[in-house]
Amino acid sequence: MSDEIWSAVDEYITDGLVGHDEFLEGALERSAAAGLPAISVSAPQGKLLSLLARAMGARRILEIGTLGGYSTIWLARALPRGGRVVTLELEEKHAAVARDNLRRAGFARRVEIRLGPALETLDALIAESVKPFDFVFIDADKPRIPDYYDRALHLTHSGSVIIVDNVVRDGKLADASSDDPNVQGVRKLHELLAHDPRVSATTIQTVGSKGYDGFTLALVT
Ligand code: SAH
Ligand code: DHB
Ligand code: MG
Repeated sequence: MSDEIWSAVDEYITDGLVGHDEFLEGALERSAAAGLPAISVSAPQGKLLSLLARAMGARRILEIGTLGGYSTIWLARALPRGGRVVTLELEEKHAAVARDNLRRAGFARRVEIRLGPALETLDALIAESVKPFDFVFIDADKPRIPDYYDRALHLTHSGSVIIVDNVVRDGKLADASSDDPNVQGVRKLHELLAHDPRVSATTIQTVGSKGYDGFTLALVT
């Protein structure tokens, strides 16, 4: 088993079930041209996010970690009329690329990019008492995942879903002795989830064009 076959299968799935379109593929091309890292979700993962959000009828979606807006477009496509995505990004350069990509895809008005350190923005959203979000996608700096999860719980309601990307990291999730702050972040998340009566959660390992990784899905109960 290798990354090569995982990528070939992702291509097969994308060609057959996900499809190709100029807005998503153009978003990746413009992100690469601007020098952004190639760490967006894969096409099958993006479609999964979109299908989950649609299946639960999410009207308000919060994303932490915009990059070039690739996953944001997938999430915005799940919105019903009148729905909204709020996406948080630290880097002005990333936000500028995302703004352009979202405008081209027709989401200039339905997606709000909030620039700045996500933890500060989340605390500001809590202080503003914004309407709760139905769906949260956490995909920014991994050491702060436990803080983002904590804030997400303040910004959601019973029935909301919280997805956290990149929690398995080549299996390092199971390494209790790791001193990597990324690994400590995802392990702390699992400890919090395990003892939190407000949520029911699982983690799914994945392979594909992004390598061996996985995501956590938590339902706010
Ligand atoms: N969700 C995107 C990928 C996000 S990559 C997609 O799948 O298409 C992670 C992003 O989080 C990067 O753009 C990075 O700049 C941003 N980020 C890192 N630390 C952050 C912080 N403290 N606050 C907000 N964004 C942060
Ligand atoms: C990294 C971040 C991501 O969100 C991702 O999906 C893959 C890699 C990273 O920071 O290396
Ligand atoms: Mg990610």
